[in-house]
Amino acid sequence: MKIVILTGSPHKNGTSNTLVNEFIKGAEENGHVIKRLDIPFLKIHPCIGCESCGMNGPCVFNDDMPDILDAILESDMIVFATPIYYFGFSAQIKSAIDRFYSKNGRIQSKHLKSVFIATAWNNDEVVMSGIKKHIDILIDYLNLDNQGLILAKGYGYPGASSEKYYKEEAYNLGKRV
Ligand SMILES: Cc1cc2nc3c(=O)[nH]c(=O)nc-3n(C[C@H](O)[C@H](O)[C@H](O)COP(=O)(O)O)c2cc1C
Repeated sequence: MKIVILTGSPHKNGTSNTLVNEFIKGAEENGHVIKRLDIPFLKIHPCIGCESCGMNGPCVFNDDMPDILDAILESDMIVFATPIYYFGFSAQIKSAIDRFYSKNGRIQSKHLKSVFIATAWNNDEVVMSGIKKHIDILIDYLNLDNQGLILAKGYGYPGASSEKYYKEEAYNLGKRV
């Protein structure tokens, strides 16, 4: 199947991208075709809520988002990967999610399979509680078919002691989807 991956970290060799690399390794071994979009390195204007798109039409901004939306609509699965910033998605990936607005209904009707990957410095009970709720609501609202979440707490920098465990989890998830 075709898998589109949206990454949300400006650290090319950071923790969330490390897990994405492992996920891709597993998924490619399974024969899946990957399109990876590193959102912080693309041009994406935040949604200004002008309603010009009417939730189903062209956006007023001429940037990289139409290509991203086309890639999503051509895929069978979407993967979101983000560092935890203040208990939620990074602003970069959230800007891209907000821009789903112009194709909202079409994304919902695709019933895409989905995977979410998040990495955080802290290793306590609350660190993933906010994003977990947000992910659950997004899965429901966007009519996604959840294939797995990797919520990697206590993984704040490459080479951290938890890295091996989460890399294995990401690789295995890639193999399983
Ligand atoms: C702006 C900012 C906000 C952050 N907020 C949190 C946070 O709320 N909780 C946490 O545990 N770590 C937080 N962190 C740490 C990152 O989530 C953590 O270092 C993560 O592994 C970085 O992922 P990356 O290497 O993929 O960029 C924050 C880091 C930054 C730069």
